[in-house]
Amino acid sequence: MAGPIPREFIDDLLDRADIAEIIGERVKLTRAGREYKGLCPFHQEKTPSFTVSPAKGFFHCFGCGAHGSALSFLMQHDRLDFPAAVEALADRYGLEVPRTGPSRPSGKGLYELLQDASRHYIEQLKSHSAAKEYLQGRGLTGAIARDFALGYSPKGNSLLARFGQTEEDRRRLVDAGLAIRNDSGDLYDRFRDRIMFPIRDRRGRVASFGGRAMGEAQPKYMNGPETPVFHKGRELYGLYEMPRGKVPQCLLVEGYMDVIGLAQHGVAGAVAPLGTAVTPRQLTRLFGIAPSVVFCFDGDAAGRRAAERAMERTLPEMRAGRELGFAFLPEGEDPDSFVQSKGAAAFREIIEQAAPMSEFMMATLSQKCDMATIEGRDRMAERARPLIAKTPVGVYRDLLFARLAQEVGLEEERLRQLLQAAPERRRTARPVPAQSAASGPFDTLGESLAGLILNFPELASASEPLPELDYFPESRVALFKDLFEHARAMPTANAAKLLERYRDLKEHGLIARLLARNSGLNPQQAERELSGGIERLAKENALRQMAARTPD
Ligand code: UTP
Ligand code: MN
Repeated sequence: MAGPIPREFIDDLLDRADIAEIIGERVKLTRAGREYKGLCPFHQEKTPSFTVSPAKGFFHCFGCGAHGSALSFLMQHDRLDFPAAVEALADRYGLEVPRTGPSRPSGKGLYELLQDASRHYIEQLKSHSAAKEYLQGRGLTGAIARDFALGYSPKGNSLLARFGQTEEDRRRLVDAGLAIRNDSGDLYDRFRDRIMFPIRDRRGRVASFGGRAMGEAQPKYMNGPETPVFHKGRELYGLYEMPRGKVPQCLLVEGYMDVIGLAQHGVAGAVAPLGTAVTPRQLTRLFGIAPSVVFCFDGDAAGRRAAERAMERTLPEMRAGRELGFAFLPEGEDPDSFVQSKGAAAFREIIEQAAPMSEFMMATLSQKCDMATIEGRDRMAERARPLIAKTPVGVYRDLLFARLAQEVGLEEERLRQLLQAAPERRRTARPVPAQSAASGPFDTLGESLAGLILNFPELASASEPLPELDYFPESRVALFKDLFEHARAMPTANAAKLLERYRDLKEHGLIARLLARNSGLNPQQAERELSGGIERLAKENALRQMAARTPD
């Protein structure tokens, strides 16, 4: 893989891209004023809440919150990674993707090597009867072993012997995570005498391996390290092997063998994270495939704890249109052992009984709270606070509020006031300092200015620099400032190009929300709003500084 793709090329591509045309080839769109509307391809819906704005170069679904540029659409819809989406779009306009900078460790060479290694392991499985018997003993058929390209790494250094002739070859084996160099410089195969599970990326390229010991050797599972082509937080085991087309539901299970066991018994859609907790990125991938995702846990205390951690981690990713369930297996079983002994129908029943996220949350919160007493209910509401705070503002959060209000027997508005007001009082005995008291209006003003720039980027393209912005420290003013500077540097600014600057940054979601909001202003009004807003910022800032200097 060569170096990164130059920013100007992506800008150019987005300038050329007709987002309505690109999306229109995949989703039926109808014109609605200056925008287009259609049924969202990322969640199931009957009335269209998916909109495409050619002027902004941006799409947004008011139902599930999916959003982004033409590149984001290709990534989500065609399940491509960012470079592949850039390739696809460049192809369309007959452009060659340029690369700049020093080339990183060569990804292309690594993919080929990993593929060769996978073939080698498959061959070795054929000639090692103990390994074959191990897989048979675990109930696997030859067909499923082929589907998942299972293999065997013999004892000793078989990869180094076969693919490590030159120093360059050996270095590549290390880069691919297949060989390890110890402190004295000796090289050896990472995987020896293990059943090999190739981990394939979305395009089917082998990115890494997991290896299971057949006996009692420790660790039981070994996973490949992070490499230029393998990022654990991005890939999911079983994603590539999943049947193409619509899968009604994705299941998140713990291990390699769970994915394979379920697939063999005809339960489609199971994937496993790779020895780490599930990441937002992985979750987004799953919701891109199916509107409903169920996490499977062991039924024991450890499984419950794991489920609670998973809930806390996934709350920030929740929104309307995303359904997340928690399923618990009987104690001592994992999906693999369960489906083998009880069959697919019994397993599906457990999945059907999965508790929706909100129910699981209520059950967790009410644990050890006596709901018959006021104190018990107060305690429950108090425990909910940090969880609700993690949930993005929106329909999903509102639904949680409603559900919690019902549970603790309070009116929703009242509960909202309590949960939103209380932490300040309880945390700080002293009166709230002037600075944070003033930050409220600053935030909203900064946000609305940022929204103006997103909707009317040309206001900034033509503008002089605004040095006074350096004096506003608040985070959302910083965002406005940032957007302003980006737009100023673009000869022709547009919203999609601005949004692309924030891919992978935490501001991305906020920007998309601001973009989706239509100001309803015309350019002249927008210009007045902008200069008025900047003036107001300057005034508020002066006041704030005075307040900060006043002793308590
Ligand atoms: P488990 O220990 O629950 O094993 O690990 P399992 O999936 O039931 O596997 P079998 O049935 O004994 O073969 C679950 C997952 O945790 C990771 C692996 O990804 C494994 O699939 N793991 C486990 C490791 O990374 N290292 C280990 O030593 C053990
Ligand atoms: Mn198991």
